[in-house]
Amino acid sequence: MAGLPLPMIPHPITLFFIVFFAFSPSAKAAQFSVLSYGAKPDGKTDSTKAFAAAWAHACASTQPATISVPKGSFSLGQVRFQGPCKNRAILLRIDGTLVAPSDYKVIGNAKNWLIFEHVNGVAVSGGTLDGQGAGLWSCKNSGKGCPRGATSLEFTNSNNIAITGLASLNSQLFHIVINGCQNVKVQGVKVSAAGNSPNTDGIHVQSSTGVTILNSRIGTGDDCVSIGPGTSSLWIENVACGPGHGISIGSLGKESQEAGVQNVTVKTATFTGTQNGLRIKSWGRPSNGFARDILFQHAVMNNVQNPIVIDQNYCPGEKNCPGQVSGVKISDVTYQDIHGSSATEVAVKFDCSKKYPCTGIKLEDVKLTFKNQPAEASCSNAGGVASGLVQPTSCL
Ligand SMILES: *[C@@H]1O[C@H](CO)[C@@H](O)[C@H](O)[C@H]1NC(C)=O
Repeated sequence: MAGLPLPMIPHPITLFFIVFFAFSPSAKAAQFSVLSYGAKPDGKTDSTKAFAAAWAHACASTQPATISVPKGSFSLGQVRFQGPCKNRAILLRIDGTLVAPSDYKVIGNAKNWLIFEHVNGVAVSGGTLDGQGAGLWSCKNSGKGCPRGATSLEFTNSNNIAITGLASLNSQLFHIVINGCQNVKVQGVKVSAAGNSPNTDGIHVQSSTGVTILNSRIGTGDDCVSIGPGTSSLWIENVACGPGHGISIGSLGKESQEAGVQNVTVKTATFTGTQNGLRIKSWGRPSNGFARDILFQHAVMNNVQNPIVIDQNYCPGEKNCPGQVSGVKISDVTYQDIHGSSATEVAVKFDCSKKYPCTGIKLEDVKLTFKNQPAEASCSNAGGVASGLVQPTSCL
């Protein structure tokens, strides 16, 4: 090596600091700890106003901002994190647990517990949200006049959002809702609620484009992921679901004028003891809605009641739709490499609209068993092709 000219690179430690200060988001971010606004990590002091004040300052900051929530338990009523803000990089870093009021009536009619509206460039990282929903569930399960409940965390009309490493427990209603958003990344999230808790969907996406859900584990009483009207370019990968009602596109077609769902990929998902696996569901009534360009790839079913299902005759309580057919057009849906066990005889069910049959359904390498025997398939008004090994034998 002697005699070779030394290249002009900075010393490694200098280099570390250059990189650190150039790319570490916290290096230049203004810091807002909820403690300095009066929040108390004691699990009983109401910290709602402190969180709202920390948000107001972070949102008014002209430089990137970090709101930090240290370890401990923070009691919170409804908090509205409202934009637009003066900067496009706010990190809410949670090390502790946010706890909803134990009396479900306090936020039960508020629709949301924690809601971000009209924000751009917000990340929520870490932490636990405890919705304390059990009281409301038992009210609902015993059928008395109960409030509808509050979604634990919602982003609405917002862009460039990240939710990372968050745990959501026992929401009164949906755990996480993404509504009217663009470019959202949900990663490493854990949702858990009882298998018999009503309407506690894990992650609900609607009217949104470019949402990605990765590496998450969802066990709840309703859909693990539900995909509503107006969703496009949704990517779901590496999700474990159970208990729950599966990953569900729908219910669609409740309204006569409704935005469609398109370009949805669900890749590498595991369903354990769930009511459904991969479901598309629409109301049996007129609508201009649609679902198209859907890919379900690499799914494992463990004792799932309806592993693959399209149900276009949804009509709870047989009210406002008897005798009507779904207007929702379902086309180009691919099921690729789906295997495992069904808890019922019919593992593949395509019950499509009489007026608008499903078209372009593809089954490729599907193998589903019932009690270690090939399961059955049932089709009505469904067209498409099967290739590779397909068991149960395709009825397309
Ligand atoms: C479909 O969605 C993916 C993200 O899931 C996106 O990368 C791709 O561009 C979309 N395709 C179209 C045609 O919109």
